[in-house]
Amino acid sequence: MRTRPLKVALLGCGVVGSEVARIMTTHADDLAARIGAPVELAGVAVRRPSKVRAGIPQELVTTDATALVKRGDIDVVVEVIGGIEPARGLITTAFEHGASVVSANKALLAQDGAALHAAAEAHGKDLYYEAAVAGAIPLIRPLRESLAGDKINRVMGIVNGTTNFILDKMDTTGAGYQEALDEATALGYAEADPTADVEAFDAAAKAAILAGIAFHTRVRLDDVYREGMTEVTAADFRSAKEMGCTIKLLAICERSKDGASVTARVHPAMIPLSHPLASVRGAYNAVFVESDAAGQLMFYGPGAGGSPTASAVLGDLVAVCRNRLNGATGPGESAYAALPVSPMGEVVTRYHISLDVADKPGVLAQVATVFAEHGVSIDTVRQQGKDGEASLVVVTHRASDASLTGTVEALRKLDTVRGVASIMRVEGE
Ligand SMILES: NC(=O)c1ccc[n+]([C@@H]2O[C@H](COP(=O)([O-])OP(=O)(O)OC[C@H]3O[C@@H](n4cnc5c(N)ncnc54)[C@H](OP(=O)(O)O)[C@@H]3O)[C@@H](O)[C@H]2O)c1
Repeated sequence: MRTRPLKVALLGCGVVGSEVARIMTTHADDLAARIGAPVELAGVAVRRPSKVRAGIPQELVTTDATALVKRGDIDVVVEVIGGIEPARGLITTAFEHGASVVSANKALLAQDGAALHAAAEAHGKDLYYEAAVAGAIPLIRPLRESLAGDKINRVMGIVNGTTNFILDKMDTTGAGYQEALDEATALGYAEADPTADVEAFDAAAKAAILAGIAFHTRVRLDDVYREGMTEVTAADFRSAKEMGCTIKLLAICERSKDGASVTARVHPAMIPLSHPLASVRGAYNAVFVESDAAGQLMFYGPGAGGSPTASAVLGDLVAVCRNRLNGATGPGESAYAALPVSPMGEVVTRYHISLDVADKPGVLAQVATVFAEHGVSIDTVRQQGKDGEASLVVVTHRASDASLTGTVEALRKLDTVRGVASIMRVEGE
Protein backbone atom coordinates (compact mmCIF):
# COMPACT_ATOMS: atom_id res chain seq x y z
CA MET A 1 0.00 0.00 0.00
CA ARG A 2 1.20 3.50 -0.81
CA THR A 3 1.95 5.43 2.36
CA ARG A 4 1.72 8.93 0.89
CA PRO A 5 -1.92 9.94 1.36
CA LEU A 6 -4.31 11.14 -1.31
CA LYS A 7 -5.45 14.62 -0.31
CA VAL A 8 -9.11 15.53 -0.28
CA ALA A 9 -10.55 19.05 -0.17
CA LEU A 10 -14.07 19.10 1.20
CA LEU A 11 -16.13 22.03 -0.08
CA GLY A 12 -19.12 22.37 2.23
CA CYS A 13 -19.59 20.79 5.63
CA GLY A 14 -23.36 20.86 6.09
CA VAL A 15 -25.83 17.97 6.15
CA VAL A 16 -23.86 15.91 3.63
CA GLY A 17 -20.33 17.28 4.05
CA SER A 18 -20.21 16.71 7.81
CA GLU A 19 -21.15 13.04 7.25
CA VAL A 20 -18.55 12.69 4.50
CA ALA A 21 -15.91 13.98 6.94
CA ARG A 22 -17.15 11.69 9.71
CA ILE A 23 -17.08 8.55 7.56
CA MET A 24 -13.67 9.49 6.13
CA THR A 25 -12.38 9.58 9.71
CA THR A 26 -14.17 6.59 11.21
CA HIS A 27 -13.57 4.32 8.18
CA ALA A 28 -10.07 5.61 7.45
CA ASP A 29 -8.34 2.24 7.68
CA ASP A 30 -10.89 0.40 5.56
CA LEU A 31 -10.89 3.17 2.97
CA ALA A 32 -7.08 3.06 2.78
CA ALA A 33 -7.13 -0.74 2.34
CA ARG A 34 -9.81 -0.53 -0.37
CA ILE A 35 -8.10 2.29 -2.24
CA GLY A 36 -4.50 1.21 -1.74
CA ALA A 37 -3.45 4.48 -0.11
CA PRO A 38 -4.60 6.51 2.87
CA VAL A 39 -6.98 9.41 2.26
CA GLU A 40 -6.33 12.63 4.13
CA LEU A 41 -8.78 15.46 4.70
CA ALA A 42 -6.60 18.37 3.63
CA GLY A 43 -9.06 21.24 4.06
CA VAL A 44 -12.72 22.03 4.65
CA ALA A 45 -14.29 25.11 3.05
CA VAL A 46 -17.37 26.57 4.72
CA ARG A 47 -19.25 29.87 4.90
CA ARG A 48 -19.27 30.27 8.70
CA PRO A 49 -15.85 29.30 10.09
CA SER A 50 -16.75 29.82 13.75
CA LYS A 51 -19.51 27.21 13.74
CA VAL A 52 -18.53 24.23 15.91
CA ARG A 53 -18.12 21.13 13.73
CA ALA A 54 -17.62 17.87 15.59
CA GLY A 55 -14.56 15.93 14.48
CA ILE A 56 -13.23 18.64 12.15
CA PRO A 57 -9.88 20.11 13.33
CA GLN A 58 -10.26 23.90 13.31
CA GLU A 59 -6.96 24.36 11.43
CA LEU A 60 -8.50 22.60 8.39
CA VAL A 61 -11.43 25.00 8.19
CA THR A 62 -11.30 27.87 5.71
CA THR A 63 -13.69 30.31 4.07
CA ASP A 64 -11.41 30.59 1.05
CA ALA A 65 -12.58 27.63 -1.03
CA THR A 66 -10.82 28.96 -4.13
CA ALA A 67 -7.42 29.04 -2.41
CA LEU A 68 -8.03 25.50 -1.14
CA VAL A 69 -8.70 24.05 -4.61
CA LYS A 70 -5.81 26.04 -6.06
CA ARG A 71 -3.27 24.63 -3.60
CA GLY A 72 -1.89 22.27 -6.24
CA ASP A 73 -1.51 19.24 -3.95
CA ILE A 74 -5.21 18.31 -3.80
CA ASP A 75 -6.07 14.98 -5.43
CA VAL A 76 -9.85 15.04 -5.06
CA VAL A 77 -12.27 17.90 -4.47
CA VAL A 78 -15.57 16.86 -2.92
CA GLU A 79 -18.13 19.56 -3.71
CA VAL A 80 -21.10 19.48 -1.33
CA ILE A 81 -21.91 23.20 -1.21
CA GLY A 82 -24.82 22.98 -3.65
CA GLY A 83 -26.29 25.60 -6.02
CA ILE A 84 -24.70 26.96 -9.18
CA GLU A 85 -22.06 29.43 -7.99
CA PRO A 86 -19.53 29.26 -6.44
CA ALA A 87 -19.75 25.47 -6.94
CA ARG A 88 -19.36 25.64 -10.74
CA GLY A 89 -16.31 27.92 -10.62
CA LEU A 90 -14.71 25.86 -7.88
CA ILE A 91 -15.15 22.59 -9.81
CA THR A 92 -13.63 24.10 -12.94
CA THR A 93 -10.74 25.52 -10.93
CA ALA A 94 -10.22 22.12 -9.31
CA PHE A 95 -9.76 20.47 -12.74
CA GLU A 96 -7.39 23.25 -13.81
CA HIS A 97 -5.28 22.60 -10.73
CA GLY A 98 -5.02 18.85 -11.17
CA ALA A 99 -7.81 17.51 -8.96
CA SER A 100 -10.64 15.12 -9.79
CA VAL A 101 -14.10 16.00 -8.50
CA VAL A 102 -16.90 14.24 -6.66
CA SER A 103 -20.12 16.24 -6.41
CA ALA A 104 -23.65 15.74 -5.09
CA ASN A 105 -24.92 18.80 -6.94
CA LYS A 106 -27.90 17.81 -9.11
CA ALA A 107 -28.87 21.41 -9.92
CA LEU A 108 -25.42 22.16 -11.30
CA LEU A 109 -25.00 18.83 -13.12
CA ALA A 110 -28.42 19.19 -14.77
CA GLN A 111 -27.69 22.73 -15.86
CA ASP A 112 -24.02 22.55 -16.81
CA GLY A 113 -23.15 18.85 -16.93
CA ALA A 114 -21.88 18.99 -20.51
CA ALA A 115 -19.46 21.87 -19.83
CA LEU A 116 -18.23 20.30 -16.59
CA HIS A 117 -17.65 16.93 -18.28
CA ALA A 118 -15.76 18.72 -21.07
CA ALA A 119 -13.58 20.48 -18.49
CA ALA A 120 -12.87 17.19 -16.71
CA GLU A 121 -11.95 15.52 -19.98
CA ALA A 122 -9.77 18.42 -21.12
CA HIS A 123 -7.73 18.06 -17.95
CA GLY A 124 -7.78 14.25 -17.86
CA LYS A 125 -9.68 14.16 -14.57
CA ASP A 126 -12.73 12.40 -13.17
CA LEU A 127 -16.14 13.92 -12.48
CA TYR A 128 -18.34 11.57 -10.41
CA TYR A 129 -21.77 12.39 -8.99
CA GLU A 130 -23.59 9.29 -7.77
CA ALA A 131 -25.12 11.27 -4.88
CA ALA A 132 -26.75 13.80 -7.22
CA VAL A 133 -29.63 11.43 -8.06
CA ALA A 134 -31.56 9.43 -5.47
CA GLY A 135 -29.09 9.87 -2.60
CA ALA A 136 -27.70 6.57 -1.40
CA ILE A 137 -29.19 4.46 -4.19
CA PRO A 138 -26.57 3.16 -6.60
CA LEU A 139 -28.04 4.34 -9.87
CA ILE A 140 -25.62 6.44 -11.91
CA ARG A 141 -22.94 3.75 -11.86
CA PRO A 142 -25.33 0.88 -12.72
CA LEU A 143 -26.69 2.93 -15.63
CA ARG A 144 -23.27 4.15 -16.75
CA GLU A 145 -21.31 0.94 -16.23
CA SER A 146 -23.33 -2.19 -15.38
CA LEU A 147 -25.89 -1.54 -18.14
CA ALA A 148 -23.38 -0.11 -20.63
CA GLY A 149 -23.83 -3.17 -22.87
CA ASP A 150 -27.63 -3.07 -22.81
CA LYS A 151 -30.17 -0.69 -24.37
CA ILE A 152 -32.26 1.22 -21.86
CA ASN A 153 -35.73 2.12 -23.07
CA ARG A 154 -37.34 3.66 -20.02
CA VAL A 155 -36.37 5.03 -16.63
CA MET A 156 -39.27 5.83 -14.34
CA GLY A 157 -38.76 6.78 -10.75
CA ILE A 158 -39.67 8.44 -7.52
CA VAL A 159 -36.62 10.66 -7.10
CA ASN A 160 -37.81 13.15 -4.49
CA GLY A 161 -38.39 11.94 -0.94
CA THR A 162 -40.20 15.06 0.28
CA THR A 163 -42.96 14.80 -2.30
CA ASN A 164 -43.25 11.05 -1.85
CA PHE A 165 -43.68 11.59 1.89
CA ILE A 166 -46.46 14.14 1.25
CA LEU A 167 -48.27 12.01 -1.34
CA ASP A 168 -47.95 8.92 0.83
CA LYS A 169 -49.51 10.82 3.75
CA MET A 170 -52.38 11.99 1.54
CA ASP A 171 -52.87 8.42 0.35
CA THR A 172 -52.81 6.71 3.72
CA THR A 173 -54.61 9.30 5.86
CA GLY A 174 -56.91 11.06 3.38
CA ALA A 175 -55.23 14.37 4.27
CA GLY A 176 -55.21 17.31 1.86
CA TYR A 177 -52.02 18.65 0.30
CA GLN A 178 -51.48 21.50 2.81
CA GLU A 179 -52.05 19.29 5.83
CA ALA A 180 -49.59 16.67 4.54
CA LEU A 181 -47.04 19.38 3.68
CA ASP A 182 -47.34 20.84 7.19
CA GLU A 183 -46.61 17.44 8.67
CA ALA A 184 -43.63 16.93 6.33
CA THR A 185 -42.27 20.33 7.42
CA ALA A 186 -42.78 19.60 11.12
CA LEU A 187 -40.94 16.28 10.79
CA GLY A 188 -38.06 17.84 8.83
CA TYR A 189 -38.89 16.14 5.52
CA ALA A 190 -39.74 19.44 3.83
CA GLU A 191 -37.71 22.65 3.89
CA ALA A 192 -39.17 25.96 5.07
CA ASP A 193 -39.42 26.89 1.39
CA PRO A 194 -40.50 23.63 -0.26
CA THR A 195 -40.74 25.08 -3.80
CA ALA A 196 -37.82 23.12 -5.28
CA ASP A 197 -39.42 19.87 -4.16
CA VAL A 198 -43.17 20.42 -4.56
CA GLU A 199 -42.86 22.26 -7.88
CA ALA A 200 -40.61 19.40 -9.04
CA PHE A 201 -37.53 21.48 -9.92
CA ASP A 202 -35.41 19.01 -7.94
CA ALA A 203 -36.93 15.98 -9.66
CA ALA A 204 -36.61 17.64 -13.08
CA ALA A 205 -32.86 18.13 -12.53
CA LYS A 206 -32.54 14.45 -11.67
CA ALA A 207 -34.61 13.45 -14.71
CA ALA A 208 -32.27 15.44 -16.97
CA ILE A 209 -29.24 13.66 -15.50
CA LEU A 210 -30.84 10.21 -15.69
CA ALA A 211 -32.10 10.64 -19.26
CA GLY A 212 -28.70 11.82 -20.47
CA ILE A 213 -26.93 8.83 -18.96
CA ALA A 214 -29.57 6.24 -19.87
CA PHE A 215 -29.86 7.25 -23.52
CA HIS A 216 -26.27 8.43 -24.17
CA THR A 217 -27.49 11.81 -25.25
CA ARG A 218 -27.55 15.33 -23.85
CA VAL A 219 -30.70 16.26 -22.02
CA ARG A 220 -30.75 19.78 -20.63
CA LEU A 221 -32.86 20.88 -17.71
CA ASP A 222 -34.97 22.97 -20.12
CA ASP A 223 -35.75 19.82 -22.10
CA VAL A 224 -37.56 18.28 -19.13
CA TYR A 225 -41.32 18.87 -18.92
CA ARG A 226 -42.11 19.77 -15.31
CA GLU A 227 -45.37 19.86 -13.39
CA GLY A 228 -45.43 20.12 -9.59
CA MET A 229 -47.75 18.28 -7.20
CA THR A 230 -49.39 21.17 -5.32
CA GLU A 231 -52.67 20.71 -7.20
CA VAL A 232 -53.10 17.06 -6.22
CA THR A 233 -56.19 16.76 -4.00
CA ALA A 234 -57.69 14.24 -1.62
CA ALA A 235 -60.41 13.79 -4.29
CA ASP A 236 -57.71 12.74 -6.79
CA PHE A 237 -56.61 10.06 -4.35
CA ARG A 238 -60.19 8.85 -3.99
CA SER A 239 -60.46 8.62 -7.79
CA ALA A 240 -57.12 6.81 -7.95
CA LYS A 241 -58.31 4.29 -5.36
CA GLU A 242 -61.45 3.62 -7.36
CA MET A 243 -59.19 2.67 -10.26
CA GLY A 244 -56.91 0.49 -8.12
CA CYS A 245 -54.18 3.13 -8.32
CA THR A 246 -52.24 5.54 -6.16
CA ILE A 247 -50.60 8.86 -7.07
CA LYS A 248 -46.84 9.42 -7.23
CA LEU A 249 -44.66 12.26 -8.50
CA LEU A 250 -42.80 10.46 -11.25
CA ALA A 251 -39.71 11.30 -13.28
CA ILE A 252 -40.14 9.49 -16.59
CA CYS A 253 -37.43 9.28 -19.25
CA GLU A 254 -38.37 7.34 -22.38
CA ARG A 255 -36.90 6.36 -25.68
CA SER A 256 -39.47 6.65 -28.52
CA LYS A 257 -40.75 3.41 -30.09
CA ASP A 258 -38.62 3.98 -33.23
CA GLY A 259 -35.62 4.84 -31.05
CA ALA A 260 -35.08 8.11 -32.90
CA SER A 261 -35.86 10.47 -30.01
CA VAL A 262 -36.31 10.65 -26.25
CA THR A 263 -38.56 12.45 -23.79
CA ALA A 264 -38.07 13.46 -20.17
CA ARG A 265 -40.83 14.65 -17.89
CA VAL A 266 -41.78 15.03 -14.24
CA HIS A 267 -45.39 15.19 -13.06
CA PRO A 268 -47.84 13.55 -10.67
CA ALA A 269 -49.38 10.42 -12.14
CA MET A 270 -51.66 7.57 -11.17
CA ILE A 271 -49.97 4.19 -11.11
CA PRO A 272 -51.60 0.82 -10.43
CA LEU A 273 -51.15 -0.54 -6.92
CA SER A 274 -49.62 -3.62 -8.52
CA HIS A 275 -46.69 -1.58 -9.89
CA PRO A 276 -43.52 -1.85 -7.76
CA LEU A 277 -43.29 1.96 -7.50
CA ALA A 278 -46.73 2.11 -5.83
CA SER A 279 -45.35 0.45 -2.71
CA VAL A 280 -42.56 3.00 -2.20
CA ARG A 281 -43.62 4.65 1.05
CA GLY A 282 -42.59 7.65 3.11
CA ALA A 283 -39.51 9.56 2.00
CA TYR A 284 -37.98 6.62 0.14
CA ASN A 285 -36.92 6.80 -3.51
CA ALA A 286 -37.03 4.11 -6.17
CA VAL A 287 -36.20 3.97 -9.84
CA PHE A 288 -37.62 1.42 -12.26
CA VAL A 289 -35.45 0.75 -15.31
CA GLU A 290 -36.55 -1.15 -18.41
CA SER A 291 -33.97 -2.35 -20.90
CA ASP A 292 -33.80 -4.68 -23.89
CA ALA A 293 -31.71 -7.45 -22.39
CA ALA A 294 -32.01 -7.12 -18.63
CA GLY A 295 -35.76 -6.52 -18.67
CA GLN A 296 -37.12 -4.73 -15.61
CA LEU A 297 -34.88 -3.61 -12.75
CA MET A 298 -35.76 -1.65 -9.64
CA PHE A 299 -33.39 0.39 -7.48
CA TYR A 300 -34.74 1.34 -4.06
CA GLY A 301 -33.50 3.11 -0.95
CA PRO A 302 -33.12 6.37 0.95
CA GLY A 303 -32.90 9.23 -1.52
CA ALA A 304 -31.60 11.88 0.87
CA GLY A 305 -30.20 12.56 4.33
CA GLY A 306 -26.66 13.24 5.43
CA SER A 307 -25.45 9.74 6.05
CA PRO A 308 -27.12 7.98 3.06
CA THR A 309 -25.97 10.70 0.67
CA ALA A 310 -22.46 10.57 2.13
CA SER A 311 -22.41 6.83 1.41
CA ALA A 312 -22.77 7.59 -2.30
CA VAL A 313 -20.17 10.37 -2.09
CA LEU A 314 -17.71 8.02 -0.37
CA GLY A 315 -18.29 5.35 -3.03
CA ASP A 316 -17.34 7.91 -5.66
CA LEU A 317 -14.37 9.04 -3.62
CA VAL A 318 -13.02 5.48 -3.46
CA ALA A 319 -13.53 5.02 -7.22
CA VAL A 320 -11.86 8.30 -8.09
CA CYS A 321 -8.93 7.62 -5.76
CA ARG A 322 -8.44 4.17 -7.29
CA ASN A 323 -8.46 5.68 -10.78
CA ARG A 324 -5.93 8.23 -9.67
CA LEU A 325 -3.56 5.62 -8.27
CA ASN A 326 -3.87 3.68 -11.54
CA GLY A 327 -3.18 6.82 -13.57
CA ALA A 328 -6.56 6.33 -15.23
CA THR A 329 -9.94 8.00 -15.40
CA GLY A 330 -13.39 6.44 -15.22
CA PRO A 331 -16.14 6.83 -17.78
CA GLY A 332 -16.83 10.43 -18.79
CA GLU A 333 -19.86 11.83 -20.54
CA SER A 334 -21.36 9.50 -23.14
CA ALA A 335 -23.54 11.58 -25.45
CA TYR A 336 -22.63 10.00 -28.79
CA ALA A 337 -26.24 9.07 -29.62
CA ALA A 338 -27.17 12.77 -29.89
CA LEU A 339 -30.90 12.00 -29.92
CA PRO A 340 -33.35 14.89 -30.08
CA VAL A 341 -35.57 15.44 -27.05
CA SER A 342 -39.20 15.55 -28.18
CA PRO A 343 -41.64 18.06 -26.69
CA MET A 344 -44.28 17.00 -24.18
CA GLY A 345 -46.99 17.12 -26.85
CA GLU A 346 -45.51 13.97 -28.40
CA VAL A 347 -45.60 11.95 -25.19
CA VAL A 348 -48.17 9.17 -25.41
CA THR A 349 -49.92 7.94 -22.27
CA ARG A 350 -53.34 7.39 -20.69
CA TYR A 351 -55.33 10.09 -18.89
CA HIS A 352 -57.81 10.33 -16.05
CA ILE A 353 -59.98 13.44 -16.48
CA SER A 354 -62.51 14.68 -13.96
CA LEU A 355 -65.14 17.09 -15.31
CA ASP A 356 -67.89 19.05 -13.55
CA VAL A 357 -70.84 19.01 -15.93
CA ALA A 358 -74.52 19.86 -16.07
CA ASP A 359 -76.66 16.89 -15.10
CA LYS A 360 -78.92 16.72 -18.14
CA PRO A 361 -79.50 14.41 -21.08
CA GLY A 362 -77.01 14.55 -23.98
CA VAL A 363 -74.02 15.83 -21.99
CA LEU A 364 -72.23 12.51 -22.06
CA ALA A 365 -72.68 12.25 -25.83
CA GLN A 366 -71.40 15.82 -26.29
CA VAL A 367 -68.29 15.12 -24.21
CA ALA A 368 -67.64 11.81 -25.99
CA THR A 369 -67.85 13.58 -29.35
CA VAL A 370 -65.15 16.07 -28.33
CA PHE A 371 -62.84 13.21 -27.36
CA ALA A 372 -63.51 11.44 -30.65
CA GLU A 373 -62.94 14.60 -32.70
CA HIS A 374 -59.45 14.87 -31.20
CA GLY A 375 -58.62 11.22 -31.77
CA VAL A 376 -58.64 10.37 -28.06
CA SER A 377 -60.31 7.05 -27.46
CA ILE A 378 -62.23 6.59 -24.20
CA ASP A 379 -61.64 3.51 -22.06
CA THR A 380 -64.16 4.09 -19.24
CA VAL A 381 -66.64 6.79 -18.18
CA ARG A 382 -68.24 7.19 -14.78
CA GLN A 383 -70.97 9.73 -14.06
CA GLN A 384 -72.32 10.84 -10.71
CA GLY A 385 -75.15 13.32 -10.47
CA LYS A 386 -76.27 15.65 -7.69
CA ASP A 387 -78.71 18.64 -7.68
CA GLY A 388 -78.60 19.32 -11.44
CA GLU A 389 -74.80 19.11 -11.52
CA ALA A 390 -72.74 16.00 -12.14
CA SER A 391 -69.17 14.85 -12.19
CA LEU A 392 -67.90 12.88 -15.13
CA VAL A 393 -64.73 10.84 -14.84
CA VAL A 394 -63.21 9.79 -18.14
CA VAL A 395 -60.26 7.42 -18.47
CA THR A 396 -58.72 7.33 -21.92
CA HIS A 397 -56.73 4.84 -23.90
CA ARG A 398 -53.21 5.92 -24.89
CA ALA A 399 -53.15 9.28 -26.64
CA SER A 400 -50.61 12.02 -27.28
CA ASP A 401 -50.37 14.88 -24.82
CA ALA A 402 -51.08 17.31 -27.67
CA SER A 403 -54.35 15.49 -28.50
CA LEU A 404 -55.36 15.49 -24.86
CA THR A 405 -54.58 19.21 -24.51
CA GLY A 406 -56.72 19.91 -27.59
CA THR A 407 -59.52 17.82 -26.15
CA VAL A 408 -59.48 19.65 -22.82
CA GLU A 409 -59.43 23.06 -24.53
CA ALA A 410 -62.52 22.08 -26.53
CA LEU A 411 -64.26 20.63 -23.47
CA ARG A 412 -63.78 23.91 -21.60
CA LYS A 413 -65.72 25.69 -24.37
CA LEU A 414 -68.79 23.49 -23.96
CA ASP A 415 -71.63 25.25 -22.10
CA THR A 416 -72.45 22.01 -20.32
CA VAL A 417 -68.92 21.60 -18.94
CA ARG A 418 -68.73 23.75 -15.79
CA GLY A 419 -65.08 23.02 -15.18
CA VAL A 420 -62.19 20.59 -15.55
CA ALA A 421 -61.60 19.46 -11.96
CA SER A 422 -58.44 17.48 -12.63
CA ILE A 423 -56.33 15.91 -15.32
CA MET A 424 -53.96 13.17 -14.28
CA ARG A 425 -51.76 10.93 -16.40
CA VAL A 426 -51.99 7.20 -15.81
CA GLU A 427 -48.63 5.41 -16.00
CA GLY A 428 -47.08 2.04 -15.37
CA GLU A 429 -49.63 -0.20 -17.07
N1 LIG B 1 -29.10 16.97 2.15
C1 LIG B 1 -29.40 15.91 1.41
O1 LIG B 1 -30.11 14.99 1.87
C2 LIG B 1 -28.86 15.78 0.02
C3 LIG B 1 -29.16 14.64 -0.74
C4 LIG B 1 -28.62 14.51 -2.03
C5 LIG B 1 -27.84 15.52 -2.54
N2 LIG B 1 -27.61 16.63 -1.81
C6 LIG B 1 -26.78 17.69 -2.39
O2 LIG B 1 -25.62 17.85 -1.59
C7 LIG B 1 -25.20 19.22 -1.64
C8 LIG B 1 -25.07 19.73 -0.20
O3 LIG B 1 -26.31 19.65 0.44
P1 LIG B 1 -26.44 19.85 2.02
O4 LIG B 1 -27.82 19.41 2.36
O5 LIG B 1 -25.30 19.23 2.73
O6 LIG B 1 -26.35 21.43 2.13
P2 LIG B 1 -26.11 22.30 3.46
O7 LIG B 1 -26.44 21.52 4.67
O8 LIG B 1 -26.80 23.60 3.24
O9 LIG B 1 -24.54 22.53 3.48
C9 LIG B 1 -23.91 23.41 2.57
C10 LIG B 1 -22.49 23.63 3.06
O10 LIG B 1 -21.84 24.47 2.12
C11 LIG B 1 -21.20 25.54 2.82
N3 LIG B 1 -21.17 26.71 1.95
C12 LIG B 1 -22.19 27.43 1.48
N4 LIG B 1 -21.74 28.42 0.69
C13 LIG B 1 -20.41 28.32 0.69
C14 LIG B 1 -19.37 29.05 0.08
N5 LIG B 1 -19.64 30.10 -0.70
N6 LIG B 1 -18.09 28.67 0.29
C15 LIG B 1 -17.80 27.62 1.08
N7 LIG B 1 -18.74 26.86 1.70
C16 LIG B 1 -20.03 27.23 1.50
C17 LIG B 1 -22.03 25.76 4.07
O11 LIG B 1 -21.22 26.38 5.05
P3 LIG B 1 -21.79 26.65 6.54
O12 LIG B 1 -21.81 25.30 7.20
O13 LIG B 1 -20.77 27.54 7.13
O14 LIG B 1 -23.14 27.25 6.37
C18 LIG B 1 -22.40 24.31 4.41
O15 LIG B 1 -21.37 23.72 5.17
C19 LIG B 1 -26.23 19.94 -2.50
O16 LIG B 1 -25.78 19.99 -3.83
C20 LIG B 1 -27.45 19.04 -2.41
O17 LIG B 1 -28.30 19.16 -3.54
C21 LIG B 1 -28.08 16.78 -0.53
